[in-house]
Amino acid sequence: MSEDGRRLAYDRELAVDDGHEDVVREVVDVIVRTAPEIRGGLVGRRGTADGEGENPSGETQAEADVWADDLLGDRLSALEGVVQYASEERAEVVDCASSSSTGLSVAVDPLDGSSNLASNNPMGTIFGVYDAPIPAQGRDLVAAGYICYGPITTMILATDDGVAEYELADGDATTLREDVRLPAEPTVYGFGGRVPDWPADFRTYAREIESELKLRYGGAMVADVNQVLSYGGIFAYPTLESRPEGKLRLQFEGNPIGYIVERAGGRSSNGRRSLLEAEATDLHERTPVYVGNDGLVDRLEGALA
Ligand code: F6P
Repeated sequence: MSEDGRRLAYDRELAVDDGHEDVVREVVDVIVRTAPEIRGGLVGRRGTADGEGENPSGETQAEADVWADDLLGDRLSALEGVVQYASEERAEVVDCASSSSTGLSVAVDPLDGSSNLASNNPMGTIFGVYDAPIPAQGRDLVAAGYICYGPITTMILATDDGVAEYELADGDATTLREDVRLPAEPTVYGFGGRVPDWPADFRTYAREIESELKLRYGGAMVADVNQVLSYGGIFAYPTLESRPEGKLRLQFEGNPIGYIVERAGGRSSNGRRSLLEAEATDLHERTPVYVGNDGLVDRLEGALA
């Protein structure tokens, strides 16, 4: 139950340290209630947003990106224990500290993979709950998760204790899997970017992997990482010749996804070290992202060394 006695959609025990459990549960509750609304509201919002039509990273912003961000921003920043709301769709962090002014910071990618709106393919919502001001390091996360808008709507939620998967319907979360672990025998890979734009060392690694695993790439990180969690394997959006900093955002994508995969028994890397150890310098900074079974990520780091 929440403090006002309302039944929470997400009403399970959470293994979160330092007395943050109530705040994390309320954040998850908002996500669980809002995700079906976001999904339902995609109809009629597949076009480009009015105004600039670009997010702070210079990428095309769909009407649905802005709408999902407005919904999540209003609801998450209204929570007593949330002191900052940051979104891939906003240039600045929203300071929403109440008088108590202690609490957690929430970073959200409201619609990850929204370019898939045009082709009607899966997308997601990613969230990270940091016990530090944003931009923060991944090791400051106390919880992270994502919604996958696939044939059904599911949520992956990671805390320090591990990872669980839920099916979302009618504002409630029903447990599908209590202890999500990467399968020991990996079978799939998905690598973003154009092959001629890959650096030579990554291309050599990719050649090896494609002879061992099956390609599964759909263009939305949430859905592609969800395949890695289901079947084992590796997802990468590497450094590109044309974009040495990579494409994905550390605060909204790299850190939460790295945290989830590590809590599920895998590894994350920016090519040199765990994503969770990467220095956070800028709200919208980009990073190469490599996540998956530890042996595959170890080999990747070796290949890039
Ligand atoms: O950052 C947004 C995103 O859509 C990710 O979800 C995805 O992994 C990537 O970009 C896809 O990029 P591309 O269209 O280059 O494959």
